[in-house]
Amino acid sequence: MIDWKTLGFDAYRTRTVVVSHFKDGAWSPAQTTETFSFTLDPFAQVLHYAMSCFEGFKTFRQKDGRVAMFRPDQNAARMVRSAKYLGLPCPPEELFIQMSELCVKNNLEFLPPYGYGASMYIRPLLFAVHPQMQLVPYPEAIFAVMCAPVGSYYGAYLKSCAAVIPGDHDRAAPKGSGSYKLSSNYATTFVPYQIAHNQGYTELLYLNSSTREYVDEFGSSNFFGIRDNTYITPLSDSVLPSVTNKTLRQVAEDLGMKVEQRAVPFEELSSFEEAAGCGTAVVITPISHIDVKPKLEEPTITRSFRYGPDGSVGPVSTKLYKHITGIQFGEAEDTHGWCHYIDL
Ligand code: PLP
Ligand code: COI
Repeated sequence: MIDWKTLGFDAYRTRTVVVSHFKDGAWSPAQTTETFSFTLDPFAQVLHYAMSCFEGFKTFRQKDGRVAMFRPDQNAARMVRSAKYLGLPCPPEELFIQMSELCVKNNLEFLPPYGYGASMYIRPLLFAVHPQMQLVPYPEAIFAVMCAPVGSYYGAYLKSCAAVIPGDHDRAAPKGSGSYKLSSNYATTFVPYQIAHNQGYTELLYLNSSTREYVDEFGSSNFFGIRDNTYITPLSDSVLPSVTNKTLRQVAEDLGMKVEQRAVPFEELSSFEEAAGCGTAVVITPISHIDVKPKLEEPTITRSFRYGPDGSVGPVSTKLYKHITGIQFGEAEDTHGWCHYIDL
């Protein structure tokens, strides 16, 4: 029996995974399997060369009992971009949506009921399975959709967190892969995350790698700052185009705020009334303070930006959070048609 109240954000084992195999120029019909394992050739490209990309979006049991996926079309389009970047076969949007729906339907007992703030995280994954040593794309891949019931990412909803800017780590190379959701972008953040967590920081905030003059994004979410009723978020070739951020920009406008998507100079961090991370998993993570460390592993902190007393959450972040989660749970009107309903 799942305790919906205390759910975290984990690789929960549900009942089924949905799989399609691209081979000989076509995707195989989507297959639902209860086998939670893949058989791979030891030379499979994904194992040696990280030929893999993934997506993440949520499905909600709404107030009136309907089941809604939140903007899965956006994730389908982003996976096409990632696949093209890697030279992998792209699952078309219809297949992406069909397999995601199938995954929800076949794991319905794991979809958290309305009222707990919990949801079902859908994780589509695409990876290259052809055994090959050469560094050239090969048109064979597995596309799999799995899911997990999830609660809050950081142990509580809308919980304020500390962040650190590590002077000796970058997330994305200039003109590199930062704007694509490649598995390899995350592999390189595990150790810096571990070091940061051991020092009490929840998030890593990365600056642009070439000049370190601008804010890029957090390791697992986009950045936004609030000042003078304005929602300000970085425009950069190296950040992941976040669906949550895109949604929040629209919500902010709907709530009468100004929206600026532009380069955000590092110095501007000192002027924000509120700062936060945004992404599917967290929705919004209010940031209590950001420390700057020339070397992540050493104790020296050269700057510190504070956004209200520790633990407090700014009024604008709270308002935006309530609005977006209200739409997701069917409590507020979905004026933009973001909810994709599943016929059960
Ligand atoms: N940036 C990074 C690096 C992420 O991993 C994520 C998480 O998905 C995001 C931003 C937020 O994107 P989205 O709102 O589409 O989940
Ligand atoms: C998400 O917010 O959906 C993410 O993908 C974060 C994940 C990398 C932990």
